[in-house]
Amino acid sequence: MEIQGWRELLEPYQLAVDEIIVKLNHIIHQYRKRGQYSPMEQVSGRVKSISSILDKMQKKQIPFEEIRTRIEDISGIRIICQFEEDIQKVVDLISARADMQIKTQKDYVLNEKDSGYRSYHMIVYYDVHTLDGLHRIPVEFQIRTLAMNFWATIEHSLQYKYKHNLPAPISEKLKNASKAVLALDAEMATIREEILDAQNSFHRKENVVADILNNIQNLYKVANKREIVKIQDEFYRIYATDDLESLAQFSKELDLISEGYRSQSLR
Ligand code: GTP
Ligand code: MG
Repeated sequence: MEIQGWRELLEPYQLAVDEIIVKLNHIIHQYRKRGQYSPMEQVSGRVKSISSILDKMQKKQIPFEEIRTRIEDISGIRIICQFEEDIQKVVDLISARADMQIKTQKDYVLNEKDSGYRSYHMIVYYDVHTLDGLHRIPVEFQIRTLAMNFWATIEHSLQYKYKHNLPAPISEKLKNASKAVLALDAEMATIREEILDAQNSFHRKENVVADILNNIQNLYKVANKREIVKIQDEFYRIYATDDLESLAQFSKELDLISEGYRSQSLR
């Protein structure tokens, strides 16, 4: 196939990846804005390289004309979760979407592969529109925890190095490491509440500080300079105490002050 042909072929696959990343990142952003925990920690994606597509065509005897119908992982999305139980929540979230239609699912989280690989896989149909019209693109989703991702990344680079013929001692070590991953995820699950608490107060602090600064900025338009300097000094003083409740209280007071100015200007 000519180079131009590859470009045209891959273009809608790239669009699908780009769009899905924007959409899923927006969901993460919404969770955090609302002060809620996001079951997705991180989203990434890629279009399969031409060389990997060629490898797969060779391995599976796929002719050029059948690339679109027979290779379903040209668009790939990876979603990383903090905890194993988040994986099912992400699956539910994707299943409920009107713009993503699930074709197949493989649960390698419950049914670990012989290699020790664990991850939840879905092939999802996703529509993109280009100058050439509508393309229904299959997208491979891989959903896994941070720990599973660590294992898969290391194992993948070793497979690459040994051209998929891992020496027995190495694959043995990898299988042991995969047991350790399982144990790590289980251990983390037992202190999940504690971890979430810590992360929540971190995000809450970020939100409160953003609100305060937003209010101070708006006050510049209406309040006098002396008052603003006083408010700013008060903010830095409270911030230095590292007490989230005082910060939240201060934020409420600022809301009232801003509210006062607003009602004055409406008179
Ligand atoms: P392929 O045709 O090779 O994509 O396999 P498949 O159609 O049977 O799909 P499967 O769900 O088994 O694997 C899809 C993808 O998951 C692979 O392309 C890898 O990215 C990943 N994967 C599957 N098994 C392993 C594994 O043992 N180790 C690692 N690191 N990744 C794996
Ligand atoms: Mg694949």
